[in-house]
Amino acid sequence: MEIISDIGTMEKWRDKGEKVAFVPTMGGLHQGHLSLIDLARESADRVVVSIFVNPMQFGENEDFADYPRTLDGDLKLLEKCQVDCVFVPDAEMIYPDNVVFTRAGLEEKRYLFETLCGKTRPHFFYGVLQVVRRLFEIVRPDVAVFGQKDYQQLQIIKQFTEGVEIIEGAIVREESGLAMSTRNQYLSMGERLIAANLYKILCQLQQGELGIKSVTKQLQSYFELDYLVMLDANTLKQITDNTSKIAILCVVFLGSTRLIDNIIFTK
Ligand code: PAF
Repeated sequence: MEIISDIGTMEKWRDKGEKVAFVPTMGGLHQGHLSLIDLARESADRVVVSIFVNPMQFGENEDFADYPRTLDGDLKLLEKCQVDCVFVPDAEMIYPDNVVFTRAGLEEKRYLFETLCGKTRPHFFYGVLQVVRRLFEIVRPDVAVFGQKDYQQLQIIKQFTEGVEIIEGAIVREESGLAMSTRNQYLSMGERLIAANLYKILCQLQQGELGIKSVTKQLQSYFELDYLVMLDANTLKQITDNTSKIAILCVVFLGSTRLIDNIIFTK
């Protein structure tokens, strides 16, 4: 496994040809990431994983400084998964002065960036798109794999990147049903037990056992609710007669830990 931290070497590695699949990450790797790597391996000859905690997608009062940085452990895991190359750039490389991120062309789709998670994290999706476009420019993958857990992020990447086939990886859950996430490391043992209720409650909504009002109440008895919505999964807008796929999307806080989860199903 090659570990590359500069752009020139990364570009040379890429120039060797063959079909390349890319899994961008911020490290803190868990089984969810490993499932994305499996998908990447199935769809190309060589697999690149990047590890970069992107400052542009954190707001002022968010956990950029505390975000789990577990490079040694991550590299061991990636070696075991037979990843071909790990790209570990630093912020100066990703954001040199001459690279300007433009929001041109995004204005008319502002809704997608500013709804749901974008309401409380207005910088977030612009920061994600910026780094993903920049990483694509450097790695030039044929295929890139993203998880469905960050469903809004996935929709934005699918709509606003070009020339790379985007593959979606299903949510990987702990035995308790809790969606795997790097931020689960922040939870105490007691909080983990409480967190397991999130998915159980969302399943009741999907199965029609409870309506959205009762589910909201139930969630509020365990968590501080940021949002719970049922929307058209393709547009992230109200469900209409034309809706074929529904998204239940939810964000809650447990103490200071933000938990995100969703269920996507056909109507
Ligand atoms: O989902 C993530 O881990 C990040 O948002 C991503 C896509 C690696 C961009 O920093």
